Amino acid sequence: MARRIGVLLSGRGSNFEALAESCAAGRIPGAEIAVVISNQDGAPGIVRAQARGIPARVLQSKGLQREVYDRQVAAVLQEYKVDLVCLAGYMRLLSRWFVAQFPQRILNIHPSLLPAFPGLEAQRQALEHGVKWTGCTVHFVDENLDAGPIVAQAAVAVRDDDTPDALTARILTEEHRIYTEAVRMVLDGRFNIAGRRVMTS
Ligand code: GAR
Repeated sequence: MARRIGVLLSGRGSNFEALAESCAAGRIPGAEIAVVISNQDGAPGIVRAQARGIPARVLQSKGLQREVYDRQVAAVLQEYKVDLVCLAGYMRLLSRWFVAQFPQRILNIHPSLLPAFPGLEAQRQALEHGVKWTGCTVHFVDENLDAGPIVAQAAVAVRDDDTPDALTARILTEEHRIYTEAVRMVLDGRFNIAGRRVMTS
């Protein structure tokens, strides 16, 4: 497949920046971030994209039905001829319609070992549950929250003296690493999906 990536984000944008760095450094050969879209005005990730000279758009979602909004997002992604959509801290559920526009072409990163701790503040959920290991997951996106076939995971040990911030920082390092690996694998088409299982080919 061609190698134009569209990133959707709502906040800080460190995963976007890690992907942009990986493209620039040739760790995702021949790929580029074609456009960054945010549903949040003033998202730091948008400023980071602009600083890199990457086209960046804010699309306000307030008052719009989910699919109406998603059609606007899809129109921008199509304008930039995006082949793969990467969610990078995009805090909105996607409509069934949107998911159908990009079959096996939408990835998300989540800061837990899914299916444990979906939703908000996954690191805090892990600490409060008392797990000894947590981590991060890259998965294909469907219309459910933090669901869809798992492409890559990395485990991170929880320490007795961990705080949400300390744990978040160690998980984030792993997020940046496995998101690059997962994007490269998917863009290379080096996978098969059988049921929920994604296997490297
Ligand atoms: C990341 O930890 C990502 O895994 C999480 O939001 C953060 C965004 O950070 N995503 C989710 O929780 C999705 N359910 P970033 O803006 O610095 O990439």
